[in-house]
Amino acid sequence: MAVAESDIVRAAPSPVVDRFGRRFRYVRLSVTDLCNLSCHYCNPAQGCASTHQHKLSWDDLDFLVDVSVNDLGAEAVRITGGEPLVRPGLAGFIRGIRRHAALSDVALTTNGVLLERMGPALRDAGVDRVNISLDTFDAERFADITRGGSLQRCLDGIEAARTLFRRVKINCVALKPTVIAELADFVRFSHDKRIEVRFIELMPIFDEKEYFHAHFISIDDLRHHLDELGFTLVPEGDGPAEGNTTGYGPATTYRVAGTEARIGFISQMSNTKCLSCNKLRLTSDGALKPCLLMPEEIDLLGPIHRRDRAAVGQAMRWQFMMRADRYDTAIAVGQPVGRGMQATGG
Ligand code: 5AD
Repeated sequence: MAVAESDIVRAAPSPVVDRFGRRFRYVRLSVTDLCNLSCHYCNPAQGCASTHQHKLSWDDLDFLVDVSVNDLGAEAVRITGGEPLVRPGLAGFIRGIRRHAALSDVALTTNGVLLERMGPALRDAGVDRVNISLDTFDAERFADITRGGSLQRCLDGIEAARTLFRRVKINCVALKPTVIAELADFVRFSHDKRIEVRFIELMPIFDEKEYFHAHFISIDDLRHHLDELGFTLVPEGDGPAEGNTTGYGPATTYRVAGTEARIGFISQMSNTKCLSCNKLRLTSDGALKPCLLMPEEIDLLGPIHRRDRAAVGQAMRWQFMMRADRYDTAIAVGQPVGRGMQATGG
């Protein structure tokens, strides 16, 4: 006799806690490696393939979320790409995973280009928060960094998001010299729009070491420049471990004194926050990774396709529990991970 999924009485999920006391709370899904931009720091020079078959269907991804929430106690899902909005069916997928009452946070990372058009449907489907990438306010620089993208469409997307979503943040990959020249503009933007801007240290994700060395600037140096510009930073909290409720991420956030600007720093190269890391990542081709900057992967394609709950759950537990207390950034710089950011999910 076939047993309907709804007839299965499941035990409450048992929390997954590793030997450093970190609890698994958050799964990050790259739902496609396709993107409508082609940023230098993310993407191989030749760009994306034009014909494409996704290895994980929406049903496959739904299953992974089901196991994460119901068997392993995940509370949050972040959807990334590539650019997640280019994959048809995203809103339906999100509506589906919102059936899990225990899932308290569904967030999206996007380049914003399609957000003006798709934002309302995504909001209706149940997206709580969006992070939008924006590295410059200069249209030419934007086109250069993204290999042809339109700054205006990104800004329109941000504007739409402000009216649609509870929380919107800007992700700015700190690129020398652009970010130094535009620091004051980012602070003003954050103040004017009441949007937190998070500066992210550049990672040597793809095999463009020259690009990395030409453009990397540490968060400490960035703070020094902010200081020189006369901005005083007032701490707001330091990641989830210290009770920062703004998200599950690794940012340290500050208010800029005398303004409404909020600035976050993600210093994963110079000052890791591994001890408060609570997530696992699934790449768009079905590999489970403990960390963007660690080489370990478990191929989950087979177990997901077979709907093998036990195998998927066990692999996730293992991958989470076996994490080192930190990754080695020196190794990360010397040996960029073989897979582009676009497949791994930023
Ligand atoms: N270094 C730092 N951040 C990166 N992102 C993509 N590639 C890199 C990189 N090499 C960021 C994007 C996006 C987020 C998903 O990850 O800007 O905001």
